[in-house]
Amino acid sequence: QRAAMSVIIKTADEIEKMRIACRLAAEVLDHVTPYVMPGVTTGELDRICHDYMVNVQGCIPAPLNYAPPGYTPYPKSICTSVNHQVCHGVPNEKVILKKGDIVNLDITVIKDGYHGDTSRMFLVGECTPQARRLVRVTYECMWKGIDVVRPGAHLGDIGHVIQQYAENAGYSVVQEFCGHGIGLKFHEEPQVLHYGRAGTGPELKEGMIFTIEPMINAGKRFIKMKPDGWTVETKDRSLSAQWEHTILVTADGYEILTLSEGTPARP
Ligand code: MF3
Ligand code: CO
Ligand code: CO
Repeated sequence: QRAAMSVIIKTADEIEKMRIACRLAAEVLDHVTPYVMPGVTTGELDRICHDYMVNVQGCIPAPLNYAPPGYTPYPKSICTSVNHQVCHGVPNEKVILKKGDIVNLDITVIKDGYHGDTSRMFLVGECTPQARRLVRVTYECMWKGIDVVRPGAHLGDIGHVIQQYAENAGYSVVQEFCGHGIGLKFHEEPQVLHYGRAGTGPELKEGMIFTIEPMINAGKRFIKMKPDGWTVETKDRSLSAQWEHTILVTADGYEILTLSEGTPARP
């Protein structure tokens, strides 16, 4: 089960630890929600989340100093991706949120060695109908993907329904970043693409845990990296949105592990 290049099937004991880590990650989002207002900086949001994870929850913020091959260590504790930023936006004291912005806050905690990973979109004050539609459709995309999860389904089924729904709405799917297995490691196999063809890819099995986290652009799918080596933006500077849950494959479907009181209702 644990050989390289295969998807880990979690034991009952590991699943229980994942439930705890994942709920804690969602609760960080609940905690920070009232602070996401015009005038706050993304640096302040990072500090609020960092202090809560470390001092209240007794968790390690997984992003801090995270350094996958080819990357410099990530300098902050959460990701804050504003407007045309796709993912991995680095919090900054100089980035002040203003009315009409949309922002993704992506939280990953480590508790008892296990990772919980979830993100939500926030509307800063009143937003345009176009921004609200992108945020809503992206949420629906994530849910389309979640709803096909069950033993015997294929990984490609998830990407297929997400891509269909996003493109029917006139949007595009980012291809360079994907969902991922998660557990003792932040990013494990499998890669969960948010595009693709039904019936392709490995079969889902009970006990797998992975994220579904579609990044959907209002314009074209192409991206570029900022000079900081982390922040990813749309090449055409169109708006981008993302939502993320960590999901367990159960005997007859799925269990969403990253739930909390503040989790928005399903569409
Ligand atoms: N939380 C992101 C994900 O969903 C990964 C962030 S890596 C970081 O996979 F280093 F930028 F934090
Ligand atoms: Co993730
Ligand atoms: Co994440």
